[in-house]
Amino acid sequence: MRCDDRGIRQHSQRVFSGIRARLDSLLIEQCKIVSREADLLTRISNFNTILNQQLFLYRQACFAHIPHMKSFRSLAKVFSFKSFFLLSSLLLATFSASTAYGDTRGEQLYRNCTICHGPDGQGIPLQLAPALTNLSEKYLVEQLKKFKTGMRGAHPEDVAGLRMLPMSQTMVTEEDMQAVASHIVSLGSSPIEATLEGGDPAKGQASYALCMACHGPDGKGNDLLNSPSLVNQHDWYQLVQLKNFKTGIRGTNPQDIGGAQMRPMAMILVDEQAMKDVIAYIQTLSD
Ligand code: HEC
Ligand code: HEC
Repeated sequence: MRCDDRGIRQHSQRVFSGIRARLDSLLIEQCKIVSREADLLTRISNFNTILNQQLFLYRQACFAHIPHMKSFRSLAKVFSFKSFFLLSSLLLATFSASTAYGDTRGEQLYRNCTICHGPDGQGIPLQLAPALTNLSEKYLVEQLKKFKTGMRGAHPEDVAGLRMLPMSQTMVTEEDMQAVASHIVSLGSSPIEATLEGGDPAKGQASYALCMACHGPDGKGNDLLNSPSLVNQHDWYQLVQLKNFKTGIRGTNPQDIGGAQMRPMAMILVDEQAMKDVIAYIQTLSD
């Protein structure tokens, strides 16, 4: 493929017509071999996830080649992501309209997430994906909206956010986001083993005095202030987020009010050691 705008446009048209053809033949094939609607849905969800991953890799390769294509908007235009995601989401919506076999809408939608966040919602380090079960329904919906509008995860250096951003497009309506969030909350949260070394929880406790105002003395967050729970979360993920806030990879979009609240707090943590210390203290608050 030629890595100029025209070359990419032509290439993306070929990729998308290929994807549409594959989706069509997949549906025909799967309809013949599965007998339960629930099985068909799982297969379509898995397929959807694989396609999304392919698109993600494709998009990353182009980021590397074309330094001036930094904004999500210009990429979205070239790749017509929207039409693809609309198509796949419509397919999913069509096949998941009924709640046969007791599956709720949230459960069905969550199948798109398990490959990275795990069936139990506890996150998968290799996928750079955090636990979701510690978070409130309100915060989950808020973050899904942020990813969907490119307010979070669209920065070219946001390796993990760029993985999540396309996934947020699989939810078309706010009701879908609510449904998946409510399913995630129903999975229940549990403590996660610490992996970072060298953090001093005693020093961290002193800096945590700052964080308490919003995240609470127990670290469980405060929905009224849009501040998430920090307990029962992976420590490596928290380190990435603090660094992202500090360097402006997260929280700099002018519409990101929550991000703007959090950024100056990360700036106060002078270096990686200070971040590790406060995270070590946060880990002691886990259930
Ligand atoms: C391709 C892998 C992948 C899939 C599939 C995926 N995610 Fe994510 N998700 C991630 C990664 C990686 C992050 C961390 C982003 C970051 O570091 O900023 C993330 C972050 C999130 C966050 C933010 C959590 C927080 O603490 O702020 C939410 C909410 C979320 N995902 C929900 C979902 C939902 C719901 C689905 C299914 C519709 C889903 N994800 C599917 C990879 C994925
Ligand atoms: C003024 C209120 C406020 C204070 C004080 C504050 N935070 Fe936050 N924090 C937030 C908000 C709001 C968010 C969510 C940002 C968003 O919507 O993307 C957040 C997000 C985070 C996240 C990301 C969580 C996730 O799941 O992605 C971490 C980690 C975090 N804060 C740690 C800290 C630490 C450590 C301190 C103390 C040094 C602190 N915060 C102080 C408001 C605050």
